[in-house]
Amino acid sequence: VTNSDFVTNKDPKLPQAWQVNGLWQANVPVNDRGLAYGDGLFETLLMRRGRCPLLDFHLARIAAGCERLAIPLTRTEIQQDYEQFHHAIDQQQLGVEGIIKLIISRGSGGRGYAVKDPLSPTIIWQLLPLVHFESEAANGVALQLSAVRLGRQPRLAGLKHLNRLEYVLAAQNVEPGYLPLLLDQENWVIETLSHNLFFCRDGILFTPLLQFCGVDGVLRQVTRQHLAPALGLTWQEENITLNDLLTAEEVFVGNSVQGFWPVTQLSHSGDPRCWSVGPVCKQLQLSHQQFLQRT
Ligand SMILES: Cc1ncc(COP(=O)(O)O)c(C=O)c1O
Repeated sequence: VTNSDFVTNKDPKLPQAWQVNGLWQANVPVNDRGLAYGDGLFETLLMRRGRCPLLDFHLARIAAGCERLAIPLTRTEIQQDYEQFHHAIDQQQLGVEGIIKLIISRGSGGRGYAVKDPLSPTIIWQLLPLVHFESEAANGVALQLSAVRLGRQPRLAGLKHLNRLEYVLAAQNVEPGYLPLLLDQENWVIETLSHNLFFCRDGILFTPLLQFCGVDGVLRQVTRQHLAPALGLTWQEENITLNDLLTAEEVFVGNSVQGFWPVTQLSHSGDPRCWSVGPVCKQLQLSHQQFLQRT
């Protein structure tokens, strides 16, 4: 692979590269089912010092997603593809810091929704620049209760699938400066646009149950398995009401690329609720950074 084989913007400060089905190009057939039906999954991986510290979690989630959607790809196959992409990035010294985005679709073809013959999945890797959000991490973000309610679909719940129209609508329907707080049709709190949601009360770390909708984030999994136990926080997944949030001691959101952001305001139909940046969020931010360095 040479530099010219990469589809890149040639700006060394903003490395970008695309690979589709093993080729250094950015073209996908127009009959790809990811495009036609959202028939696929994606992952967004943080790359630091040339490594993706949370790779195993992302591979596990997308492989489990492939199994649930009956897309014929195993974790080992996806990992082999990753290693090839990553090796090429390394050789070009493009990938010190950035975001690796992976999209897997069922492939191209099929007439209508049904697929008769097995298709060959499309695997797209992209290297994108990492954007830092220092102010959000330090000073917090404001949430606004969204008018968009998430539909309930247990067969898709937890997956990071390509059908994200509800989130696109929510992004269009929020005032500037706010992240939308998303509830489901039964008014249970679920998450924000691209972050899972957490809150604290009496040493317990609460997060919404995601058996009907929402994305089971990698940061959420890391927090449940590693960060919360190490900090002596009891982990509790529950149905959460808006009132639970309003009466919380601390609220924060997080994802695997940006880490934890404190929530300092929640705007809803009543008086806005405000919080200061809390100690648990700060502890989790620190533990998360240490975890990334260790893994
Ligand atoms: C809808 C949604 N929820 C939650 C998350 C957090 O996921 P992760 O921790 O895997 O980054 C994301 C990430 O982009 C998301 O898009």
